[in-house]
Amino acid sequence: MKSSNVVWHESTITRQQREALNNHQSTILWFTGLSGAGKSTLAHAVEAKLHERGCRTFVVDGDNVRHGLCADLGFSDEDREENIRRVGEIAKLFNEAGIITLTAFISPFRADREKVRQLVPEGDFIEVYCQASLDVCEERDVKGLYKKARSGEIAHFTGISSPYEAPEKAELEVDTGSKSLEDCAAQVIDYLSTKGVLK
Ligand code: PPS
Repeated sequence: MKSSNVVWHESTITRQQREALNNHQSTILWFTGLSGAGKSTLAHAVEAKLHERGCRTFVVDGDNVRHGLCADLGFSDEDREENIRRVGEIAKLFNEAGIITLTAFISPFRADREKVRQLVPEGDFIEVYCQASLDVCEERDVKGLYKKARSGEIAHFTGISSPYEAPEKAELEVDTGSKSLEDCAAQVIDYLSTKGVLK
């Protein structure tokens, strides 16, 4: 529900002025993929490379956000939608703040990712599809969650008992299922350089 009697207060410092203090533009790298596809690992590896270059960055991570801002949400379709809506708003604020935001969420629904894309200026939302098959993710089962999902201990588990809608037009498709972390991170950095985000 929208609040009434609330008036937007324009900032005196613009995004462009904030960006001018940095050696890069602000942007949102939105990592999406199955549980265990390597979203967080890749996001943190890219952040480390950007930080080395003097970029201002922040990783917003699904597991972490669910300890605080989204601690009231579970894994029903509705709760996932609300989770992504909140994170989208956070990413929008960070984008205005002039930093490079990296988000690592399964974000299983295309429509929810599209809503975030529409929240920010065109070109600022870079969808990074972390492509690893269900077989690979289940084989890895880093957190033991796939085993629990198969046994019915966890309900609504993405890829098993809850859908994952793969991106159809992601800016970047990264083969996190078979390529090395180094190669995947380099692919993202190359993209940012080509796009002019990095000076
Ligand atoms: S979502 O769908 O975008 O709202 O999910 P997200 O906030 O990224 O949270 C995914 C992490 O939560 C753990 N987990 C589950 N994932 C999927 N389905 C179910 N039912 C579930 N229950 C717990 C899991 O550790 C996910 O982390 P990643 O890093 O993706 O493996």
